[in-house]
Amino acid sequence: MRNLEILTEEDKEALDLPRTTVDEIGKQDKKKLYIESYGCQMNFSDSEIVTSILQENGYATTSLFDEADVILLNTCAIRDNAEQKVRNRLKNFTHLKKKRPSLVVGVLGCMAERLKTKFLEEEKIVDVVAGPDSYRDLPNLFEEVEEGNKAINVFLSKEETYADISPVRLNSNGVTAFVSIMRGCDNMCSFCVVPFTRGRERSRDVYSILKECQDLLDNGYKEVTLLGQNVDSYKWASADGTETVNFAQLLERVALINPLLRVRFSTSHPKDITDEVLYTIKKYENVCNYIHLPAQSGSSRILKLMNRTYDRDWYINRVDKIREVLGEECGISQDIIAGFCTETEEDHQETLSLIEYVRYDYGYMFAYSERPGTPAAKKLVDDISDEEKQRRLAEIIALQRKISQERNEMSVGTIQKVLIEGDSKRSADFLQGRNDQNKMVILPKGNHQKGDYVNVKITSCSSATLFGEVE
Ligand code: 5AD
Ligand code: SF4
Repeated sequence: MRNLEILTEEDKEALDLPRTTVDEIGKQDKKKLYIESYGCQMNFSDSEIVTSILQENGYATTSLFDEADVILLNTCAIRDNAEQKVRNRLKNFTHLKKKRPSLVVGVLGCMAERLKTKFLEEEKIVDVVAGPDSYRDLPNLFEEVEEGNKAINVFLSKEETYADISPVRLNSNGVTAFVSIMRGCDNMCSFCVVPFTRGRERSRDVYSILKECQDLLDNGYKEVTLLGQNVDSYKWASADGTETVNFAQLLERVALINPLLRVRFSTSHPKDITDEVLYTIKKYENVCNYIHLPAQSGSSRILKLMNRTYDRDWYINRVDKIREVLGEECGISQDIIAGFCTETEEDHQETLSLIEYVRYDYGYMFAYSERPGTPAAKKLVDDISDEEKQRRLAEIIALQRKISQERNEMSVGTIQKVLIEGDSKRSADFLQGRNDQNKMVILPKGNHQKGDYVNVKITSCSSATLFGEVE
């Protein structure tokens, strides 16, 4: 899953990520909810589920936290800096809480699940702690707080997928939407806190996914991104066992809803992505030619310590297959961790050479951050100095940026089909949208509207963006 909190403002703009506040929906005398999301796309998607649950229970939403009755932070625990960000943000609400003691402050998501009651002890301002599988319980938790108690629910479920809940789209451009297809993760990568904070992997009912996608199309949306920590292990079976659906089949069924509905997905796992998925991408024009394929490292020794269950050769083989089936133009992006336990200069050079080999379109790159309770924290020593991690990270980022620029230059002079998402952030005379490979494209406004597909001739580029004119 891409983690959003490490992106620069430029990255966020290029990717047009949803922002943290919500528009005002159905106010009157209702209690007002303000919700902010941190971390991965799944958290942003979960906030839409939380909003739906609370709207059903009589809450309205507000984009102004100082007029809210309930403030919720949907938190991320993937790296220490993500947690520090939330703790700092909580400080901003202290004066409000002093002024209005009835204000309820709740923390949701991965940090809530990781810290449990510790959150209540360490952050006095927090009234409610709710883990990712407990959102249906939020109205009860708020009631408990009204009775003068602190409230917590961090039970993880083996079944909860919120399949029946229609998410309330927050900060929506009305064109693109996230659709969660599974929850949790069973992979146990040694550095990762997610299996502990989001619990066991479970797949959502295929029919509820198809219905949500159809509803989005009926409401004018043109693109869905199917979300899961590891979409390739999606597996659903009907109650009587007569019907089973894997990820390639799900992708096909979503693609068949309507050729005008673009389909994206994230995140793919190198150990699980099948040739069937690649052929499905090839078969359907509306399934985008773009794969987010986290590598984490280019060194087989480090991959083993990370418990990624593939090695460098396996990863390269998957990339070769992507190129064979989908060609040079298929967009590929990475996640890479610099300075994992015991990483040597040689291992680091292998990561750089993997980036050179694959020629990723872009990437999300991080310094290793030890997370308490993970297998790596228990069994390995976080022995690379911060300074060294930062040096290696800077080299990885610089190389990726150079290759992103070169990959984007390949598009100059070509015609790209762009789905317009709205006005360019920089100028109202321009529109922005994305091409098949998920690249942001800026074009003059003309008579085009958001939601239109237009053919754009690319005239120039930066490492993050393509610029062009409508053909
Ligand atoms: N330290 C640094 N990066 C991490 N990621 C996950 N856990 C850690 C950690 N402990 C990165 C991985 C993952 C992405 C979502 O976050 O690259 O793919
Ligand atoms: Fe974490 Fe690995 Fe699961 Fe991704 S696949 S969420 S990195 S454990």
